[in-house]
Formats: sequence, structure tokens, C-alpha cells
Amino acid sequence: QHFLFLLKFVYMLLSCSTMWGPKVISGPEGSSLTVPCHYDPGWETYYKWWCQGADWGSCKILVKTTGTEQEVKKGRVSIRDNHTEHIFTITIKKLREDDEDFYWCGIERFLTDLGVQVKVSL
Ligand SMILES: *[C@@H]1O[C@H](CO)[C@@H](O)[C@H](O)[C@H]1NC(C)=O
Repeated sequence: QHFLFLLKFVYMLLSCSTMWGPKVISGPEGSSLTVPCHYDPGWETYYKWWCQGADWGSCKILVKTTGTEQEVKKGRVSIRDNHTEHIFTITIKKLREDDEDFYWCGIERFLTDLGVQVKVSL
């Protein structure tokens, strides 16, 4: 139990130093919301994803990049990575009330992904 907690803590520290994003982001209904997620140099070609759900373990991945700067779209949600700026941005179009939730922006890597939680509200 304590070991798991420690592991989680160390993991959080590690992920904070590698990537960061807004804790809370909000916009009016019907607007386009853009969420910037920053990462350190070295992670450019890794797959970046956007996941819906408060729980890291069971959230649902909505969009994922292919390690390139190509935009990936699924419905109202899109994701785009910028390798020179070290930012990937998620855009939610026509923001709706039921978009209000906890999300994670993350980087897929070997063994454990990196991720930061973002709360989207209207
Ligand atoms: C990345 O950001 C830079 C600086 O803002 C910009 O010039 C470039 O066009 C962007 N690349 C993509 C693929 O959006």
C-alpha cells in the first residue's frame, strides 16, 4: 500500500517535469476550446493522446497523434502536435455541456505513459 503510494508520487514528479498543461480550462457553450499541452524536447516523435475520464486507468482515448505533426480529427475533437514548439494542442469544437469532464493529455511511451489531468468546464 505504502509502496504503491510512493510509486505514484515518484511517477507524478517524473511526469510533471516532462510535461505540463492547464489544470482547468473553460469556454462558453458553442465555442471552440483549445487545450495546449507542453512537453520537454526529446518527446517529439512519440504518440500524443487526449483521454476523457477522471480516472487515469479507465479514461477513454478520444484522439491520438501518429508521432507526426499531422492533425488527427474525430468528430468535434482534434489533436495536433508541434515539434518545434513542443506543444500538442487539442481542439474541441462547438463546446457542449456534456463535454464538461476531467480529461488527460498524455504521451504514449514504453511501460507507462505520461499524462496530466485537465478539467474542462463551461
Ligand atoms: C509550429 O509552431 C511554429 C511557431 O508558432 C509555427 O511557425 C509552425 O507553423 C507550427 N507548425 C505546425 C505544424 O503547426
